[in-house]
Amino acid sequence: MNSVKVRVPATSANLGPGFDCLGIALNLYNKLEVHENDTLHIEIEGGNHLHIPCDGSNLVYQAMKKAYEAAGKDCPNFFILQTNAIPLCRGLGSSAAAIVGGLLAANALMGAPLDKAELARLAAAIEGHPDNVVPCLFGGLTAAATDDGVVSYARTLPSPRYAYAAILPEYDLSTIRARMVLPESYTRADAVYNVGHAALMYAALEQGLDDVLGKACGDRLHQPYRKEIVPGWEDITNLAWESGALAVFLSGAGPTVMAIYLKEDDGFMRRLEAGFSGLTHGWKALRLECCADGAYAKHGDTGQSHNR
Ligand code: HSE
Repeated sequence: MNSVKVRVPATSANLGPGFDCLGIALNLYNKLEVHENDTLHIEIEGGNHLHIPCDGSNLVYQAMKKAYEAAGKDCPNFFILQTNAIPLCRGLGSSAAAIVGGLLAANALMGAPLDKAELARLAAAIEGHPDNVVPCLFGGLTAAATDDGVVSYARTLPSPRYAYAAILPEYDLSTIRARMVLPESYTRADAVYNVGHAALMYAALEQGLDDVLGKACGDRLHQPYRKEIVPGWEDITNLAWESGALAVFLSGAGPTVMAIYLKEDDGFMRRLEAGFSGLTHGWKALRLECCADGAYAKHGDTGQSHNR
């Protein structure tokens, strides 16, 4: 039987100032098993999957249909098993993972007619912005921009000395709502401020410039507005800085807060978690590292893999 298995990483987008541009892949994964079937049948395991539709509106299936359409092929029905570890609506790229997973599964089932550039273009078009889907596809630390639908990106690896604490509250926040609170336009001063800080963030992560990372978190495009809809923002960001983080920012559209710290700082997670007891909103932390490889698909029968 022509079946594929896919593994897709979580991602953290924006990295503070790099709104809709910067992102990083993390070692927390959703998995898919897909094969052609007489009818569409979707099963979901793990996470708060009760919110995920199992009909034709399922995002993995929607992405698979787009891939078949882009390749000029009729889309068959599928059996899809989703095993999810990436929490939904928390700013850790769950929708990007569904989109990239669906595209890679479909591409592998079709014999890989779509190249990397086409997969990135399709993924960004479905998601609406490239900053989660690009690191999800290619791994590492990425910068991405879209011109007339074409996605250009740069990929590198962050310093291996850094670890990432994803700090999640008990509540969720939809990206749609988190985008609605943003202004339609910004001043030139704010645009200039963010261009500089985004460039600094990418370079500081790549080169391991510990002392620059904190300053590089400066952002005037989204966090000043979104912190109003992230209850507990001041408390949790203060706690992360006081625990010894080198950088602290909203992960994607939130509500997860990301703290970057030195792997050699053995006590960081303990200090952070000790502070949760004094706070409301049920914060918990996941210790993550960068995922260098990005998503991959593997044929279930032959084991032959299609990296992207
Ligand atoms: N760049 C996006 C945003 C990421 O901040 O809205 C969320 O998917």
